Amino acid sequence: MPKEIRGIVVGSRNAAVGFPRAIEILRGGGSALEAAIAAVKAVEDDLCDQGVGTGGIPNILGEVELDASVMDGRTLAAGAVGALKHYPHPIEVARRIMECTPHVMLVGEGAELFARTHGFQPANLLTPEAEAIWRAVIHGERRTEHNVYEDRYQLYMSVVQRWRELLHRELFGTTNVIVRDLAGNIACAVSTSGWGFKWPGRLGDSPIIGAGNYADNRYGAAACTGRGEMAIRCATAHSVVMYLRFGFTLEDALRQAMLDLRALDDPYAEADTVMNIVAMDRDGNVSAASTSPEATYVVQTIDMETYEERPRLHVPLRE
Ligand code: GLY
Repeated sequence: MPKEIRGIVVGSRNAAVGFPRAIEILRGGGSALEAAIAAVKAVEDDLCDQGVGTGGIPNILGEVELDASVMDGRTLAAGAVGALKHYPHPIEVARRIMECTPHVMLVGEGAELFARTHGFQPANLLTPEAEAIWRAVIHGERRTEHNVYEDRYQLYMSVVQRWRELLHRELFGTTNVIVRDLAGNIACAVSTSGWGFKWPGRLGDSPIIGAGNYADNRYGAAACTGRGEMAIRCATAHSVVMYLRFGFTLEDALRQAMLDLRALDDPYAEADTVMNIVAMDRDGNVSAASTSPEATYVVQTIDMETYEERPRLHVPLRE
């Protein structure tokens, strides 16, 4: 019999910065939802992280657009926000959408209006470092006498054509946090600035419940980082939880959800770093998988002084 674990936090490598706060909340008897959101907020505030929150690499227009979602495994309540500009904590906005509206997801201007109406404070999300990277890529890509903004679509497509050359952390940075609290409840929170140089309004898997985030106390939870378009097409986070529901072990559920991606015909899917999943079963056991042989994830229980970094199960995208 696998043992049951309460008071545990698991996440993508970059989520470690938020673990001290999440563990403190759990030790104080706080909920999984509270702890997961607090951990993700810390990543959103981490200016060194150029894939999440403030400091994220902007879209093709040079604007930072943020996506986030949260799911409460007790009730399957969920909240999500997409293409949100000017507000540094999309995970809090997602939570407020979950708690205060009859909706699951708000995007763009409507999401901004919602954030403003609910008293969230706007901020400049574009750091000088992120702007410098954006300028280097944009100006390096298209040497022309004309203003580089003249034909944004062509510029976007030229950036997309050579996306494999760009740093993956710039392209795919996202954070995942799954928590099981002392009461045995599970929550999952995800936040990202999405694909660097993305087309304005592009949403990946992070704000899509079932694609980048799914949590159900009865079976477990999963969350993704990587090429969101693939996780959307395979409903990857939900697949892991569904496989758990059908009796797969945690590792087999992860492996099967990764193998499902092989059916996709995706010309952008050659890179090692294309998909990563972290997961937890209903008893609080954790694992993670990646198409990269070197990827890791982080885990901490309330009994541990600090987090532990562990290797992910390697499931290559191609046979
Ligand atoms: N997985 C994050 C994204 O595709 O935006």
